[in-house]
Amino acid sequence: MAPVDWQQNWRAGATPWDAGASPPALRSLVDRGAVPSGRILVPGCGTGYDLATLARTDREVVGIDLSEDARKAFFVAHPELPGSVVYEVADFFSYTPADGFDFVWDYTFFCALDPGQRTSWNEAMRRLVNPGGVLATLLFPFEDPISGTQGPPWPVNTSMVRSYVDGGFEELETAEVNRTHPGREGKERLVLWRRGA
Ligand SMILES: C[S@@+](CC[C@H](N)C(=O)[O-])C[C@H]1O[C@@H](n2cnc3c(N)ncnc32)[C@H](O)[C@@H]1O
Repeated sequence: MAPVDWQQNWRAGATPWDAGASPPALRSLVDRGAVPSGRILVPGCGTGYDLATLARTDREVVGIDLSEDARKAFFVAHPELPGSVVYEVADFFSYTPADGFDFVWDYTFFCALDPGQRTSWNEAMRRLVNPGGVLATLLFPFEDPISGTQGPPWPVNTSMVRSYVDGGFEELETAEVNRTHPGREGKERLVLWRRGA
């Protein structure tokens, strides 16, 4: 299967994944104080609703995406946000910022990647999440057992993602998700991982 041309999809306005808002699970994490202050990364952030949800004066929120069109869409949707919010057009796999992150939020990014890129996803996360920092994965589309063989989005489940998150991370929390976007009910699980020292 040919790799997805994300930039072409953005140029053509073919963005069926765009739900127009952050998932309720992210709002819940923010509300219960599970997102620290400090540096936050959202890879494959698209229109950046999650950047807006995470923006706060004591945070430096960084979104990255391959597409300049996605970046433009972000600035149209979110002209003003609190704190420092930076949107970089960059490839996650070669992204090497000067400093690491205290919290990384992955929603609809892991499932968008070609399955052959999953080991590299883990290696990049190891590099990008600070020791003691948290990798938060909202797994979508959740299937257990996995029956679908096509993507993106590639079906995911907890044991499958566990097999890619190496011993550098400890599993902190795994939770079913009750509220989500219409049409995604029952298809999300939240898993939080802490990076070891
Ligand atoms: C399925 S979309 C999800 C976008 C956003 N998270 C949302 O929920 O609306 C996946 C996004 O990842 C971006 N992307 C894919 N591969 C990437 C890579 N290697 N580095 C950075 N962004 C990437 C695509 O351009 C696209 O915007």
